[in-house]
Amino acid sequence: MIVSYKELGFVNSKEIFKKALKGGYAIPAYNFNNMEQLQAIIIACVQTSSPVILQVSKGAREYANQTLLRYLAQGAVEFMKELASEKKLPEIPIVLHLDHGDSFELCKSCILSGFSSVMIDGSHLPYEENVLLTKKVVEYAHEFDVTVEGELGVLAGIEEHVQSEVHHYTKPEEVEDFVKSTGVDSLAIAIGTSHGAYKFKVKPGENPPPLRFDILEEVEKRIPGFPIVLHGASSVLKDYVDMINRYGGNMENAVGVPEDQLRRAAKSAVCKINIDSDGRLAMTAKIREALATKPAEFDPRKYLGPAREELIKMYMDKNMNVLGSAGKA
Ligand code: G3H
Ligand code: 13P
Ligand code: ZN
Repeated sequence: MIVSYKELGFVNSKEIFKKALKGGYAIPAYNFNNMEQLQAIIIACVQTSSPVILQVSKGAREYANQTLLRYLAQGAVEFMKELASEKKLPEIPIVLHLDHGDSFELCKSCILSGFSSVMIDGSHLPYEENVLLTKKVVEYAHEFDVTVEGELGVLAGIEEHVQSEVHHYTKPEEVEDFVKSTGVDSLAIAIGTSHGAYKFKVKPGENPPPLRFDILEEVEKRIPGFPIVLHGASSVLKDYVDMINRYGGNMENAVGVPEDQLRRAAKSAVCKINIDSDGRLAMTAKIREALATKPAEFDPRKYLGPAREELIKMYMDKNMNVLGSAGKA
């Protein structure tokens, strides 16, 4: 059965990106794998009146079951409407997006089951193959008015099998041809961010190297007004890492992208900022705290509940103070 995202109440990314580019802010793209994360994202974004991109990875689909996950996302739209009406706040635009799609078939399956946006990540492929794969997905997706994100350049972390640091960065001289040849709606670029909680190899107290804003500016010159996406944008907040370590965890040298760098990026053509690890850290920190301080507790609601509250606070802070998306719904 083909399910259209329009019937489910999602929007594609076209209009919200246009507004974000004009307004000098970025839309949050938060990953979710379970109900508590999804609730927190919706509550935080309704309370800050922020548009939001709900991101689902291939791994999330496998973990939660793709059918259940899709119904959860569908439920999130109804939950958002109820919440907005209850709090007398505006309804917010929600995009349901496939994160790091790795094949045409996966993108097709998402498009046919109600996703309003997909990423086809051909960034590991030779340039010409990336173009061909991305173009194939775009042609299919556009028949259904689904938007497509492509990627040029390779981030470290989960994309770490590429050899040289230097060649990870996006080559600005490729972007114009890529966008024209593929017809993509947005482009993820590599300017020094990476996935996960261990982004930079710095000694304690040292600052991570700044993002390569020179590359971003060069890209913007070549494709003016085109929506750019930043992956690997968690800040790896020290409070959460400390809390995890305090309550029995072991996360040494976890470092993320400083918030001031993200604020600067959000004002540029970067109009989508991907954050997953920060949610994982906040949740783990609060669950560890609850289990360590209340050892007799065994009701999952008693440790998942506080984790969800913390996630709400963190997402609201990001929307209001980092991405600038608050009040833009
Ligand atoms: O960029 C990757 C996202 O953080 C998703 O991670 O594949 O472990 O779900 P995952
Ligand atoms: P983080 O690991 O920095 O949260 O990045 C998430 C991401 O890029 C999802 O696609
Ligand atoms: Zn990513």
